[in-house]
Amino acid sequence: MTEESQSTGNGRGTTAAGAESLSVTDNRTGQSYEVEIEDGTVRAMDFRQIKVDEDDFGLMTYDPGYSNTASCRSAITYIDGEKGILEHRGIPIEQLCEHSSYLEVAYLLNYGRLPTEDELNRWTYEITHHTYVHENIKNFMNGFRHDANPMGMLQASVGALSTFYPEAQDIDDEYQRHVAAVRLIAKMPTLAAFAYRHSLGLPYVYPDNDLSYAGNFLSMLFKMAEPKYEPDPRLEKALDVLFILHADHEQNCSAAAVRVVGSSRVDPFSAIAAGCAGLYGPLHGGANVAVLRMLQRIGTTDNVPDFLEGVKQGDERLMGFGHRVYKNYDPRARIIRSHVDEVLEATNKESPLLDIAIELEKRALDDDYFTSRKLYPNVDFYSGLIYEALGIPTDAFTVMFAIPRTSGWMAQWMEMMDDPELKIARPRQIYTGPRDADYVPIDER
Ligand code: SDX
Repeated sequence: MTEESQSTGNGRGTTAAGAESLSVTDNRTGQSYEVEIEDGTVRAMDFRQIKVDEDDFGLMTYDPGYSNTASCRSAITYIDGEKGILEHRGIPIEQLCEHSSYLEVAYLLNYGRLPTEDELNRWTYEITHHTYVHENIKNFMNGFRHDANPMGMLQASVGALSTFYPEAQDIDDEYQRHVAAVRLIAKMPTLAAFAYRHSLGLPYVYPDNDLSYAGNFLSMLFKMAEPKYEPDPRLEKALDVLFILHADHEQNCSAAAVRVVGSSRVDPFSAIAAGCAGLYGPLHGGANVAVLRMLQRIGTTDNVPDFLEGVKQGDERLMGFGHRVYKNYDPRARIIRSHVDEVLEATNKESPLLDIAIELEKRALDDDYFTSRKLYPNVDFYSGLIYEALGIPTDAFTVMFAIPRTSGWMAQWMEMMDDPELKIARPRQIYTGPRDADYVPIDER
């Protein structure tokens, strides 16, 4: 192979110049390389052979925030950011919200297809009968301050769950993977409800197996002295749709955290505790809390123009707007918006914040500053208004995101564990620090 046609190949042999390749010339050496293009990507490792001399480590790619780096192959969720398309295993989110249920979507995500009626009944039975947590978890919960942030409590409790199921460390066992998925999907609402009840100093409410997944969660949150909690079917349905809308969203920050931590072959409970930590951040799952606080701070629709000016001056961020992938309206925001009025009616709530949100959206979408940056409402812009109407405390809004996202995180983890290209995540760096320094004794500093 002559230097001129030296190919960085794909590490699996050489690649002759062709349509599915890049021809790269290193102007430092004049050498040319052919780099294979596969599935619209080039392999970063194919650039390591591009060197100026034998001592050269070779070229790396540099991509802060991984804005243009595919970390894996996945068949779970497809997003077209320009067209505002979201599909799970190829089925559009709009159809899933209209025809499916959260538990059915959770099965679809984790097992790659819609379940038969028997499979769905068994899946529902298994999850319904795994909602209890070990009584020691209550003692663990009681150790938190009364005003502890519910996401902090949830992330800690999920990690603690790993110590109650040491068999989950057998991550190559299909049954252990399945039962970990069932336990995590089943117990997240229980942990979330216990954290909520702890923050109010109320006794914990145990799961009610007669109720649906969403209905049981409402019961564990709000049941008081009544013998049996009767959820409002309209709220049950709205919550189930919200759970579907938050179930998975391909390689977002928290899913990436689950994959990075999971690549060390830790148990899935610990990997998903990392996902909780990632979701906690205000730029990710914490945005729904930040949206409500932003609307409360704006106070009235009259203040919206000044607030938007502050955003354009860089003094504020329009929380609930913008997305790394969607450069169009987030399809989930559109569906959530359609449920807000129904929930307000069912809860007999007025929402002055809704009027402010509608005014914000109207003005922002009519303002070149936002449209030129392709900033449209995302999943978090309206969801908080529903949670507020349901009586969920603002600090617990992100917990409402974590509950359904658990099925997506688990699906990402399961898919990763079967990936033949799975390697422990270990990025490189561009070193910018000093070299060859000497230790200085303290009396000489
Ligand atoms: C979720 O990834 C996922 O899929 C996440 C999620 C999921 O389901 O898992 O969809 C859930 O996290 C939704 C996003 C929730 N976050 C927010 O609503 C917080 C507000 N939005 C942003 O901070 C921001 O839009 C991000 C973090 C969502 C995306 O940021 P990017 O892609 O890194 O874009 P950027 O920060 O580089 O911004 C590009 C430009 C910048 O302006 P310039 O420097 O070019 O002048 O747009 C501006 C930013 O200043 N910008 C905003 C803005 N978002 C971006 N300006 C004002 N308000 C905003 N919200």
